[in-house]
Amino acid sequence: MKKQPGWALPNLQEAQKRTTKESHVERSLFQIPDEIRKIGQGKKYFLRTYGCQANERDSETLAGILEQLQFTAVDKAEDADLILMNTCAIRKNAEDKVLGELGSLKRLKRTNPDIIFGLCGCMAQEEDIISLLLEKYRHVNLVFGTHNLHRLPELLYEVMTTGKACIEVLSKEGDVIENLPVKRFGHHKAWVNIMYGCDKFCTYCIVPYTRGKERSRLMEDILDEVRQLKEEGYKEITLLGQNVNSYGKDLHLEGGFARLLEETAKIGVERIRFTTSHPWDFSDEMIDVIARYDNIMPFIHLPVQSGDDEILKIMGRRYTREQYLTLFHKIKERVKNCAFSTDIIVGFPNETDEQFEHTLELVDECKFDNAFTFIYSPREGTPAARMQDNVSLETKQKRLAILNERWNAYAHEKNEAYLGKVVKVLVDGASKKNKDVYSGYTETNKLVNFTANNVKPGDIVEVRITACKTFSLDGEQC
Ligand code: SAH
Ligand code: SF4
Ligand code: F3S
Repeated sequence: MKKQPGWALPNLQEAQKRTTKESHVERSLFQIPDEIRKIGQGKKYFLRTYGCQANERDSETLAGILEQLQFTAVDKAEDADLILMNTCAIRKNAEDKVLGELGSLKRLKRTNPDIIFGLCGCMAQEEDIISLLLEKYRHVNLVFGTHNLHRLPELLYEVMTTGKACIEVLSKEGDVIENLPVKRFGHHKAWVNIMYGCDKFCTYCIVPYTRGKERSRLMEDILDEVRQLKEEGYKEITLLGQNVNSYGKDLHLEGGFARLLEETAKIGVERIRFTTSHPWDFSDEMIDVIARYDNIMPFIHLPVQSGDDEILKIMGRRYTREQYLTLFHKIKERVKNCAFSTDIIVGFPNETDEQFEHTLELVDECKFDNAFTFIYSPREGTPAARMQDNVSLETKQKRLAILNERWNAYAHEKNEAYLGKVVKVLVDGASKKNKDVYSGYTETNKLVNFTANNVKPGDIVEVRITACKTFSLDGEQC
Protein backbone atom coordinates (compact mmCIF):
# COMPACT_ATOMS: atom_id res chain seq x y z
CA MET A 1 0.00 0.00 0.00
CA LYS A 2 1.64 3.24 -1.14
CA LYS A 3 0.68 6.52 0.47
CA GLN A 4 -1.73 8.30 -1.83
CA PRO A 5 -3.15 11.79 -2.25
CA GLY A 6 -6.57 12.19 -0.72
CA TRP A 7 -5.81 10.03 2.27
CA ALA A 8 -6.47 11.42 5.72
CA LEU A 9 -4.02 10.14 8.32
CA PRO A 10 -4.29 10.44 12.11
CA ASN A 11 -2.34 12.91 14.19
CA LEU A 12 -2.13 12.29 17.94
CA GLN A 13 -1.29 15.90 18.79
CA GLU A 14 -4.40 17.08 17.01
CA ALA A 15 -6.38 14.35 18.73
CA GLN A 16 -5.22 15.62 22.12
CA LYS A 17 -6.63 19.12 21.64
CA ARG A 18 -9.90 19.98 23.26
CA THR A 19 -12.16 22.85 22.23
CA THR A 20 -15.08 24.32 24.13
CA LYS A 21 -17.20 24.06 21.01
CA GLU A 22 -20.39 22.16 21.84
CA SER A 23 -21.04 19.21 19.63
CA HIS A 24 -24.23 19.15 17.63
CA VAL A 25 -26.64 16.41 16.86
CA GLU A 26 -26.70 15.24 13.26
CA ARG A 27 -29.89 13.52 12.24
CA SER A 28 -29.24 13.02 8.54
CA LEU A 29 -25.47 12.80 8.10
CA PHE A 30 -25.52 9.11 7.28
CA GLN A 31 -26.70 8.61 3.70
CA ILE A 32 -26.24 5.85 1.18
CA PRO A 33 -25.99 7.31 -2.33
CA ASP A 34 -28.11 5.44 -4.90
CA GLU A 35 -25.18 4.06 -6.85
CA ILE A 36 -23.81 2.44 -3.69
CA ARG A 37 -27.04 0.94 -2.40
CA LYS A 38 -26.40 -2.58 -3.68
CA ILE A 39 -22.61 -2.88 -3.66
CA GLY A 40 -22.78 -5.75 -1.21
CA GLN A 41 -25.19 -7.86 -3.22
CA GLY A 42 -23.94 -11.44 -3.34
CA LYS A 43 -20.97 -10.51 -1.16
CA LYS A 44 -20.11 -11.69 2.32
CA TYR A 45 -18.50 -9.92 5.25
CA PHE A 46 -16.64 -11.16 8.28
CA LEU A 47 -16.50 -8.70 11.17
CA ARG A 48 -14.28 -9.25 14.19
CA THR A 49 -14.45 -7.07 17.27
CA TYR A 50 -11.70 -6.50 19.83
CA GLY A 51 -11.70 -4.32 22.95
CA CYS A 52 -14.41 -2.79 25.06
CA GLN A 53 -18.19 -2.46 24.85
CA ALA A 54 -17.84 0.79 22.91
CA ASN A 55 -16.33 -1.27 20.13
CA GLU A 56 -18.98 -3.97 20.48
CA ARG A 57 -21.62 -1.33 20.01
CA ASP A 58 -19.75 0.24 17.07
CA SER A 59 -19.63 -3.17 15.44
CA GLU A 60 -23.42 -3.35 15.65
CA THR A 61 -23.47 -0.11 13.69
CA LEU A 62 -20.94 -1.40 11.15
CA ALA A 63 -22.97 -4.58 10.67
CA GLY A 64 -26.11 -2.45 10.29
CA ILE A 65 -24.44 -0.37 7.56
CA LEU A 66 -23.04 -3.41 5.74
CA GLU A 67 -26.41 -5.13 5.72
CA GLN A 68 -28.06 -2.00 4.33
CA LEU A 69 -25.50 -2.30 1.53
CA GLN A 70 -26.76 -5.89 1.12
CA PHE A 71 -23.66 -7.66 2.40
CA THR A 72 -24.35 -10.95 4.24
CA ALA A 73 -22.55 -11.89 7.48
CA VAL A 74 -20.40 -15.03 7.65
CA ASP A 75 -18.71 -16.69 10.64
CA LYS A 76 -15.49 -17.63 8.93
CA ALA A 77 -12.95 -15.21 7.45
CA GLU A 78 -12.24 -17.81 4.74
CA ASP A 79 -15.76 -17.34 3.31
CA ALA A 80 -15.67 -13.55 3.18
CA ASP A 81 -15.20 -10.94 0.44
CA LEU A 82 -14.72 -8.27 3.09
CA ILE A 83 -12.84 -8.82 6.34
CA LEU A 84 -13.25 -6.01 8.82
CA MET A 85 -11.29 -5.82 12.07
CA ASN A 86 -12.71 -3.40 14.62
CA THR A 87 -9.64 -2.98 16.78
CA CYS A 88 -8.52 -1.96 20.27
CA ALA A 89 -5.39 0.00 21.17
CA ILE A 90 -5.53 -0.11 24.96
CA ARG A 91 -2.43 -2.30 25.44
CA LYS A 92 0.27 -3.61 23.16
CA ASN A 93 -0.98 -7.19 23.45
CA ALA A 94 -4.40 -6.09 22.15
CA GLU A 95 -2.67 -4.71 19.06
CA ASP A 96 -0.41 -7.73 18.65
CA LYS A 97 -3.46 -9.98 18.46
CA VAL A 98 -4.87 -7.97 15.56
CA LEU A 99 -1.55 -7.77 13.73
CA GLY A 100 -1.04 -11.51 14.13
CA GLU A 101 -4.51 -12.19 12.74
CA LEU A 102 -3.98 -9.79 9.83
CA GLY A 103 -0.70 -11.50 9.02
CA SER A 104 -2.19 -14.96 9.02
CA LEU A 105 -5.25 -13.96 6.96
CA LYS A 106 -3.09 -12.49 4.20
CA ARG A 107 -3.00 -15.96 2.60
CA LEU A 108 -6.67 -15.55 1.62
CA LYS A 109 -5.60 -13.04 -1.00
CA ARG A 110 -4.16 -15.94 -2.99
CA THR A 111 -7.52 -17.63 -3.49
CA ASN A 112 -9.52 -14.40 -3.59
CA PRO A 113 -7.44 -11.55 -5.07
CA ASP A 114 -10.35 -9.07 -4.74
CA ILE A 115 -10.75 -9.63 -1.02
CA ILE A 116 -10.91 -6.41 1.00
CA PHE A 117 -8.99 -6.23 4.27
CA GLY A 118 -10.44 -3.48 6.41
CA LEU A 119 -9.16 -2.16 9.73
CA CYS A 120 -11.10 0.30 11.87
CA GLY A 121 -11.52 1.19 15.54
CA CYS A 122 -8.96 2.56 17.97
CA MET A 123 -5.79 1.19 16.31
CA ALA A 124 -6.69 3.09 13.15
CA GLN A 125 -6.40 6.32 15.17
CA GLU A 126 -2.72 5.70 15.94
CA GLU A 127 0.03 7.21 13.82
CA ASP A 128 2.53 4.41 14.39
CA ILE A 129 0.01 1.74 13.47
CA ILE A 130 -0.80 3.45 10.17
CA SER A 131 2.95 3.63 9.37
CA LEU A 132 3.26 -0.05 10.18
CA LEU A 133 0.32 -0.95 7.94
CA LEU A 134 1.79 1.08 5.09
CA GLU A 135 5.13 -0.61 5.51
CA LYS A 136 4.37 -4.21 6.42
CA TYR A 137 0.68 -4.97 5.95
CA ARG A 138 0.16 -3.79 2.44
CA HIS A 139 -2.73 -6.17 1.86
CA VAL A 140 -4.85 -4.00 4.18
CA ASN A 141 -6.71 -1.78 1.72
CA LEU A 142 -9.40 -0.06 3.76
CA VAL A 143 -8.73 1.90 6.94
CA PHE A 144 -11.09 4.23 8.75
CA GLY A 145 -11.27 5.48 12.32
CA THR A 146 -13.68 5.85 15.21
CA HIS A 147 -15.00 9.25 14.09
CA ASN A 148 -16.16 8.34 10.59
CA LEU A 149 -18.06 5.05 10.70
CA HIS A 150 -20.77 6.81 8.73
CA ARG A 151 -18.39 7.07 5.77
CA LEU A 152 -18.14 3.30 5.34
CA PRO A 153 -20.42 3.11 2.25
CA GLU A 154 -18.41 5.69 0.27
CA LEU A 155 -15.03 4.31 1.38
CA LEU A 156 -16.00 0.78 0.42
CA TYR A 157 -17.31 1.99 -2.91
CA GLU A 158 -14.01 3.68 -3.61
CA VAL A 159 -11.98 0.57 -2.84
CA MET A 160 -14.32 -1.66 -4.83
CA THR A 161 -14.52 0.55 -7.91
CA THR A 162 -10.93 1.81 -8.13
CA GLY A 163 -9.20 -1.26 -6.71
CA LYS A 164 -6.98 1.15 -4.81
CA ALA A 165 -6.42 1.29 -1.07
CA CYS A 166 -8.25 3.93 0.92
CA ILE A 167 -7.34 5.41 4.29
CA GLU A 168 -9.52 7.97 5.99
CA VAL A 169 -8.87 8.61 9.66
CA LEU A 170 -9.99 11.86 11.27
CA SER A 171 -8.04 13.08 14.27
CA LYS A 172 -10.87 15.22 15.57
CA GLU A 173 -14.23 13.93 16.63
CA GLY A 174 -17.29 15.14 14.78
CA ASP A 175 -20.86 15.64 15.90
CA VAL A 176 -23.15 13.13 17.55
CA ILE A 177 -24.74 11.21 14.69
CA GLU A 178 -28.23 9.93 15.43
CA ASN A 179 -29.28 8.30 12.18
CA LEU A 180 -26.85 5.38 11.96
CA PRO A 181 -28.34 1.93 11.44
CA VAL A 182 -27.82 -0.85 14.00
CA LYS A 183 -27.90 -4.62 13.87
CA ARG A 184 -28.17 -5.72 17.49
CA PHE A 185 -26.14 -8.84 18.21
CA GLY A 186 -28.02 -9.64 21.42
CA HIS A 187 -31.69 -10.58 21.53
CA HIS A 188 -32.47 -9.72 25.13
CA LYS A 189 -29.50 -7.60 26.16
CA ALA A 190 -28.61 -4.34 24.43
CA TRP A 191 -25.94 -1.67 24.67
CA VAL A 192 -26.99 1.97 24.59
CA ASN A 193 -24.38 4.66 24.06
CA ILE A 194 -24.99 7.67 26.24
CA MET A 195 -21.78 9.51 25.44
CA TYR A 196 -18.66 9.23 23.37
CA GLY A 197 -15.01 10.06 24.04
CA CYS A 198 -13.09 10.82 27.22
CA ASP A 199 -11.57 13.99 28.67
CA LYS A 200 -9.90 12.47 31.73
CA PHE A 201 -6.46 11.96 30.17
CA CYS A 202 -5.21 9.43 32.72
CA THR A 203 -1.50 9.56 31.91
CA TYR A 204 -1.23 5.93 30.75
CA CYS A 205 -4.32 5.84 28.57
CA ILE A 206 -4.79 6.15 24.80
CA VAL A 207 -8.59 6.39 24.82
CA PRO A 208 -8.87 10.23 24.96
CA TYR A 209 -6.76 10.29 21.77
CA THR A 210 -8.56 7.50 19.92
CA ARG A 211 -12.09 8.48 20.91
CA GLY A 212 -11.92 12.26 21.07
CA LYS A 213 -13.57 14.63 23.49
CA GLU A 214 -16.54 13.81 25.68
CA ARG A 215 -19.80 14.26 23.80
CA SER A 216 -23.15 13.37 25.33
CA ARG A 217 -26.20 12.26 23.41
CA LEU A 218 -29.35 14.17 24.18
CA MET A 219 -31.40 12.64 26.97
CA GLU A 220 -34.54 12.40 24.77
CA ASP A 221 -32.63 10.39 22.17
CA ILE A 222 -31.30 7.96 24.76
CA LEU A 223 -34.68 7.51 26.43
CA ASP A 224 -36.39 6.98 23.05
CA GLU A 225 -33.90 4.25 22.26
CA VAL A 226 -34.49 2.58 25.64
CA ARG A 227 -38.28 2.75 25.18
CA GLN A 228 -37.97 1.17 21.77
CA LEU A 229 -35.74 -1.59 23.11
CA LYS A 230 -38.28 -2.30 25.82
CA GLU A 231 -41.03 -2.54 23.23
CA GLU A 232 -38.89 -4.94 21.23
CA GLY A 233 -38.67 -7.17 24.31
CA TYR A 234 -35.16 -6.43 25.56
CA LYS A 235 -34.70 -7.39 29.21
CA GLU A 236 -31.40 -5.73 29.99
CA ILE A 237 -29.80 -2.55 28.77
CA THR A 238 -26.34 -1.28 29.59
CA LEU A 239 -25.72 2.45 29.38
CA LEU A 240 -22.30 2.97 27.86
CA GLY A 241 -19.64 5.63 28.18
CA GLN A 242 -15.93 5.73 29.04
CA ASN A 243 -17.01 7.65 32.09
CA VAL A 244 -20.76 7.70 32.48
CA ASN A 245 -20.58 10.00 35.54
CA SER A 246 -19.63 12.83 33.20
CA TYR A 247 -22.79 12.38 31.19
CA GLY A 248 -24.47 15.67 30.34
CA LYS A 249 -21.68 17.98 31.53
CA ASP A 250 -21.01 19.17 27.98
CA LEU A 251 -24.74 19.85 27.56
CA HIS A 252 -24.94 21.66 30.93
CA LEU A 253 -27.69 19.22 31.75
CA GLU A 254 -29.04 19.65 35.24
CA GLY A 255 -28.92 16.43 37.25
CA GLY A 256 -26.41 14.80 34.90
CA PHE A 257 -26.05 11.03 34.94
CA ALA A 258 -28.14 10.56 38.10
CA ARG A 259 -31.11 12.10 36.30
CA LEU A 260 -30.58 10.07 33.15
CA LEU A 261 -30.28 6.89 35.20
CA GLU A 262 -33.50 7.64 37.04
CA GLU A 263 -35.42 8.46 33.87
CA THR A 264 -34.11 5.25 32.30
CA ALA A 265 -35.15 3.22 35.34
CA LYS A 266 -38.68 4.66 35.18
CA ILE A 267 -39.15 3.25 31.68
CA GLY A 268 -39.28 -0.14 33.39
CA VAL A 269 -36.79 -2.34 31.53
CA GLU A 270 -36.18 -5.33 33.86
CA ARG A 271 -32.45 -4.77 34.22
CA ILE A 272 -30.38 -1.64 33.84
CA ARG A 273 -26.62 -1.57 34.06
CA PHE A 274 -24.04 1.08 33.25
CA THR A 275 -20.34 1.16 32.60
CA THR A 276 -17.81 2.62 33.24
CA SER A 277 -18.08 4.89 36.24
CA HIS A 278 -14.95 6.68 37.31
CA PRO A 279 -14.61 6.99 41.09
CA TRP A 280 -13.78 10.67 40.77
CA ASP A 281 -17.23 12.13 40.12
CA PHE A 282 -19.50 9.36 41.36
CA SER A 283 -22.15 11.55 42.99
CA ASP A 284 -24.34 10.96 46.05
CA GLU A 285 -27.35 11.47 43.78
CA MET A 286 -26.18 8.55 41.66
CA ILE A 287 -25.90 6.32 44.71
CA ASP A 288 -29.40 7.37 45.80
CA VAL A 289 -30.91 6.50 42.42
CA ILE A 290 -29.14 3.14 42.28
CA ALA A 291 -30.38 2.32 45.79
CA ARG A 292 -33.95 3.44 45.06
CA TYR A 293 -34.72 1.51 41.86
CA ASP A 294 -34.94 -2.28 41.93
CA ASN A 295 -34.31 -2.48 38.20
CA ILE A 296 -30.91 -0.79 38.47
CA MET A 297 -28.65 -3.75 39.12
CA PRO A 298 -26.61 -3.85 42.34
CA PHE A 299 -23.32 -4.24 40.58
CA ILE A 300 -20.74 -1.49 40.13
CA HIS A 301 -17.60 -1.60 38.07
CA LEU A 302 -15.38 0.87 39.90
CA PRO A 303 -11.84 0.88 38.47
CA VAL A 304 -9.25 1.77 41.12
CA GLN A 305 -6.04 1.20 39.06
CA SER A 306 -3.77 1.40 42.12
CA GLY A 307 -4.03 1.48 45.90
CA ASP A 308 -1.14 3.92 46.29
CA ASP A 309 -1.62 7.68 46.49
CA GLU A 310 1.60 8.59 44.76
CA ILE A 311 0.92 6.27 41.82
CA LEU A 312 -2.69 7.45 41.59
CA LYS A 313 -1.40 11.00 41.40
CA ILE A 314 1.08 10.24 38.63
CA MET A 315 -1.64 8.31 36.81
CA GLY A 316 -3.78 11.44 36.93
CA ARG A 317 -6.71 9.60 38.46
CA ARG A 318 -7.90 12.59 40.53
CA TYR A 319 -8.73 10.64 43.71
CA THR A 320 -6.75 9.33 46.65
CA ARG A 321 -6.87 5.85 48.09
CA GLU A 322 -8.89 7.22 51.02
CA GLN A 323 -11.43 8.87 48.73
CA TYR A 324 -11.83 5.66 46.76
CA LEU A 325 -12.38 3.65 49.93
CA THR A 326 -14.85 6.17 51.32
CA LEU A 327 -16.87 6.01 48.10
CA PHE A 328 -16.66 2.22 47.99
CA HIS A 329 -17.99 1.85 51.53
CA LYS A 330 -20.67 4.46 50.99
CA ILE A 331 -22.03 2.56 47.98
CA LYS A 332 -21.79 -0.73 49.84
CA GLU A 333 -23.76 0.64 52.76
CA ARG A 334 -26.47 2.29 50.71
CA VAL A 335 -26.97 -0.25 47.89
CA LYS A 336 -28.25 -3.55 49.27
CA ASN A 337 -26.09 -6.61 48.40
CA CYS A 338 -24.00 -4.65 45.95
CA ALA A 339 -21.23 -6.48 44.09
CA PHE A 340 -18.12 -4.71 42.84
CA SER A 341 -15.56 -5.24 40.17
CA THR A 342 -12.49 -3.18 39.43
CA ASP A 343 -9.56 -2.62 37.06
CA ILE A 344 -5.99 -2.62 38.34
CA ILE A 345 -2.73 -1.84 36.58
CA VAL A 346 0.50 -3.29 37.99
CA GLY A 347 3.99 -2.18 37.10
CA PHE A 348 3.23 1.46 36.36
CA PRO A 349 6.62 3.20 35.78
CA ASN A 350 8.80 2.99 38.88
CA GLU A 351 6.14 1.35 41.07
CA THR A 352 7.92 0.13 44.20
CA ASP A 353 7.24 -3.08 46.15
CA GLU A 354 5.73 -0.95 48.87
CA GLN A 355 3.42 0.85 46.46
CA PHE A 356 2.32 -2.48 45.02
CA GLU A 357 1.73 -3.69 48.59
CA HIS A 358 -0.70 -0.77 49.04
CA THR A 359 -2.70 -2.10 46.09
CA LEU A 360 -2.84 -5.55 47.70
CA GLU A 361 -4.01 -3.99 50.96
CA LEU A 362 -6.78 -2.19 49.13
CA VAL A 363 -7.84 -5.49 47.55
CA ASP A 364 -7.86 -7.02 51.06
CA GLU A 365 -10.16 -4.28 52.22
CA CYS A 366 -12.57 -4.22 49.24
CA LYS A 367 -12.68 -7.96 48.52
CA PHE A 368 -13.87 -7.38 44.96
CA ASP A 369 -16.22 -9.86 43.32
CA ASN A 370 -14.27 -9.56 40.11
CA ALA A 371 -11.21 -7.73 38.83
CA PHE A 372 -9.53 -7.03 35.51
CA THR A 373 -5.81 -6.83 36.09
CA PHE A 374 -3.19 -5.67 33.64
CA ILE A 375 0.51 -5.11 33.33
CA TYR A 376 1.14 -1.49 32.39
CA SER A 377 1.71 -1.12 28.67
CA PRO A 378 3.30 2.11 27.37
CA ARG A 379 1.14 3.83 24.75
CA GLU A 380 2.86 6.05 22.23
CA GLY A 381 1.84 9.69 22.65
CA THR A 382 0.70 9.43 26.29
CA PRO A 383 2.62 11.19 29.11
CA ALA A 384 3.40 7.94 30.95
CA ALA A 385 5.10 6.49 27.87
CA ARG A 386 7.74 9.23 28.23
CA MET A 387 8.51 8.30 31.85
CA GLN A 388 11.65 6.35 32.70
CA ASP A 389 10.75 2.96 34.12
CA ASN A 390 13.01 0.98 36.44
CA VAL A 391 10.70 -2.00 37.01
CA SER A 392 11.63 -5.15 35.11
CA LEU A 393 9.08 -7.14 33.15
CA GLU A 394 9.83 -10.10 35.40
CA THR A 395 8.85 -8.09 38.49
CA LYS A 396 5.70 -6.87 36.78
CA GLN A 397 4.73 -10.43 35.89
CA LYS A 398 5.35 -11.58 39.46
CA ARG A 399 3.20 -8.76 40.80
CA LEU A 400 0.40 -9.63 38.41
CA ALA A 401 0.48 -13.27 39.55
CA ILE A 402 0.41 -12.27 43.24
CA LEU A 403 -2.43 -9.84 42.63
CA ASN A 404 -4.45 -12.39 40.69
CA GLU A 405 -4.04 -14.99 43.37
CA ARG A 406 -5.17 -12.47 45.97
CA TRP A 407 -8.33 -11.23 44.25
CA ASN A 408 -9.25 -14.74 43.06
CA ALA A 409 -9.35 -15.90 46.68
CA TYR A 410 -11.78 -13.10 47.55
CA ALA A 411 -13.89 -13.75 44.46
CA HIS A 412 -14.20 -17.36 45.56
CA GLU A 413 -15.07 -16.30 49.09
CA LYS A 414 -17.74 -13.91 47.77
CA ASN A 415 -19.22 -16.68 45.64
CA GLU A 416 -19.33 -19.07 48.60
CA ALA A 417 -21.77 -16.75 50.32
CA TYR A 418 -24.27 -17.67 47.58
CA LEU A 419 -24.36 -21.35 48.47
CA GLY A 420 -27.96 -22.50 49.10
CA LYS A 421 -29.37 -19.10 48.18
CA VAL A 422 -32.01 -18.45 45.53
CA VAL A 423 -31.04 -15.88 42.89
CA LYS A 424 -32.72 -14.39 39.85
CA VAL A 425 -30.95 -15.29 36.64
CA LEU A 426 -31.46 -13.76 33.21
CA VAL A 427 -31.06 -16.74 30.87
CA ASP A 428 -28.55 -16.33 28.05
CA GLY A 429 -29.03 -19.79 26.53
CA ALA A 430 -28.08 -23.44 26.74
CA SER A 431 -24.48 -24.30 27.46
CA LYS A 432 -22.40 -25.27 24.42
CA LYS A 433 -21.07 -28.33 26.21
CA ASN A 434 -24.30 -29.66 27.68
CA LYS A 435 -27.76 -28.98 26.27
CA ASP A 436 -29.48 -29.57 29.61
CA VAL A 437 -27.42 -26.90 31.29
CA TYR A 438 -28.26 -23.23 30.86
CA SER A 439 -26.25 -20.18 31.68
CA GLY A 440 -27.07 -16.64 32.61
CA TYR A 441 -26.22 -13.83 35.01
CA THR A 442 -27.50 -12.84 38.45
CA GLU A 443 -28.45 -9.29 39.28
CA THR A 444 -24.97 -8.94 40.79
CA ASN A 445 -23.45 -10.05 37.48
CA LYS A 446 -22.39 -13.55 38.56
CA LEU A 447 -22.29 -16.19 35.87
CA VAL A 448 -24.53 -19.14 36.78
CA ASN A 449 -24.64 -22.53 35.06
CA PHE A 450 -27.83 -24.33 36.02
CA THR A 451 -30.12 -27.20 35.14
CA ALA A 452 -33.67 -26.33 34.15
CA ASN A 453 -36.72 -27.43 32.18
CA ASN A 454 -38.52 -25.34 29.74
CA VAL A 455 -36.58 -22.11 29.90
CA LYS A 456 -35.56 -19.95 27.00
CA PRO A 457 -33.07 -17.14 26.46
CA GLY A 458 -34.42 -13.90 27.86
CA ASP A 459 -36.39 -15.54 30.72
CA ILE A 460 -35.66 -14.42 34.25
CA VAL A 461 -35.78 -17.50 36.46
CA GLU A 462 -35.14 -18.37 40.10
CA VAL A 463 -32.16 -20.61 40.63
CA ARG A 464 -30.89 -22.26 43.81
CA ILE A 465 -27.11 -22.19 44.05
CA THR A 466 -25.62 -25.64 44.67
CA ALA A 467 -21.89 -25.09 44.12
CA CYS A 468 -19.45 -22.20 43.99
CA LYS A 469 -16.35 -21.70 41.89
CA THR A 470 -14.06 -18.73 41.55
CA PHE A 471 -15.55 -17.40 38.32
CA SER A 472 -19.02 -18.94 38.30
CA LEU A 473 -21.80 -20.55 40.30
CA ASP A 474 -23.69 -23.79 39.67
CA GLY A 475 -27.36 -24.20 40.43
CA GLU A 476 -30.76 -25.69 39.68
CA GLN A 477 -33.96 -23.97 38.72
CA CYS A 478 -36.36 -23.73 41.70
N1 SAH B 1 -12.83 4.44 31.20
C1 SAH B 1 -12.52 3.35 32.00
C2 SAH B 1 -11.41 2.47 31.50
C3 SAH B 1 -11.37 2.05 30.09
S1 SAH B 1 -9.91 1.18 29.65
C4 SAH B 1 -12.09 3.87 33.38
O1 SAH B 1 -11.40 4.85 33.48
O2 SAH B 1 -12.41 3.26 34.32
C5 SAH B 1 -10.05 -0.29 30.63
C6 SAH B 1 -8.91 -0.52 31.54
O3 SAH B 1 -7.72 -0.78 30.81
C7 SAH B 1 -8.52 0.62 32.45
O4 SAH B 1 -9.35 0.75 33.54
C8 SAH B 1 -7.10 0.27 32.83
O5 SAH B 1 -7.08 -0.54 33.97
C9 SAH B 1 -6.61 -0.51 31.63
N2 SAH B 1 -5.62 0.26 30.87
C10 SAH B 1 -5.81 1.42 30.21
N3 SAH B 1 -4.64 1.84 29.66
C11 SAH B 1 -3.71 0.91 29.98
C12 SAH B 1 -2.31 0.78 29.72
N4 SAH B 1 -1.65 1.69 29.03
N5 SAH B 1 -1.67 -0.32 30.21
C13 SAH B 1 -2.34 -1.24 30.94
N6 SAH B 1 -3.63 -1.16 31.20
C14 SAH B 1 -4.33 -0.10 30.75
FE1 SF4 C 1 -8.69 6.08 29.93
FE2 SF4 C 1 -8.85 7.39 32.21
FE3 SF4 C 1 -10.53 7.96 30.21
FE4 SF4 C 1 -10.76 5.66 31.51
S1 SF4 C 1 -11.07 7.73 32.40
S2 SF4 C 1 -10.82 5.95 29.31
S3 SF4 C 1 -8.63 5.15 31.97
S4 SF4 C 1 -8.33 8.31 30.24
FE1 F3S D 1 -9.86 -0.43 23.31
FE2 F3S D 1 -10.71 1.74 22.16
FE3 F3S D 1 -12.23 0.50 23.89
S1 F3S D 1 -8.66 1.39 22.91
S2 F3S D 1 -10.77 -0.41 25.29
S3 F3S D 1 -11.58 -0.30 21.95
S4 F3S D 1 -12.13 2.69 23.56
